[in-house]
Amino acid sequence: MIYPTIRVDNFFKKFDLVKQWANSLEYLPNEGTYPGNRTRPIHEIDPLFFQNTTRKIAAILFPNDYVHMSWRANIHFQKTDPKIYPGPGFIHQDQHALEFATILYLDGDVEAGTSIFRPKGISVDREGHVAFKSECYKNPEMMKTDEFKQAVHRHNSQFEELACYHAIPNSMILFDTGLDHGVKDCGTKERLTMVAFFGFAERDRRENKSLKYPLIELARCST
Ligand SMILES: [Fe+2]
Repeated sequence: MIYPTIRVDNFFKKFDLVKQWANSLEYLPNEGTYPGNRTRPIHEIDPLFFQNTTRKIAAILFPNDYVHMSWRANIHFQKTDPKIYPGPGFIHQDQHALEFATILYLDGDVEAGTSIFRPKGISVDREGHVAFKSECYKNPEMMKTDEFKQAVHRHNSQFEELACYHAIPNSMILFDTGLDHGVKDCGTKERLTMVAFFGFAERDRRENKSLKYPLIELARCST
């Protein structure tokens, strides 16, 4: 891991307007890689909102550098109805995103936050359930079956919980995409989140200064 897990309160200054806007957007059919439905990438809908929001996220990790940085990222709003997608979900990593991810909570039950886990043993099967999971996300009726519940239990029992972040409205968590995470309790209310995935972040090379990463600097200290 090169990024620490960080929780931020009151992320958006105009939270109610963002939530209202998120609710007005169109949510696309499930693609099988996550539970629920997501909007199109936000940079296609409102490039300025995307730029300002990713800049603010970059400022959390790189307060001295973000004004001299470039990054590649994706933001989507995501709705998950627990009546259609009941919890708990499969514990997973977001490694397709390569660097770090954020989840901002807009609506839903406070208990329907995100937990961070670590493997209990030395061998973890992170791939065995993926095809079945994808089929279930596309056909959510399958998530009500014992087969699904048993598959989640079998997979999740490989991990132990380290921390649980509640879904406090306008709070956000940021974490390394290599971290195991998942939703323990989806609650009863529709869950609305804004998810962001950063696939690349770099300091402008013309400045001739390298980017420092919090956990890498920590590992370099002798004590
Ligand atoms: Fe995830």
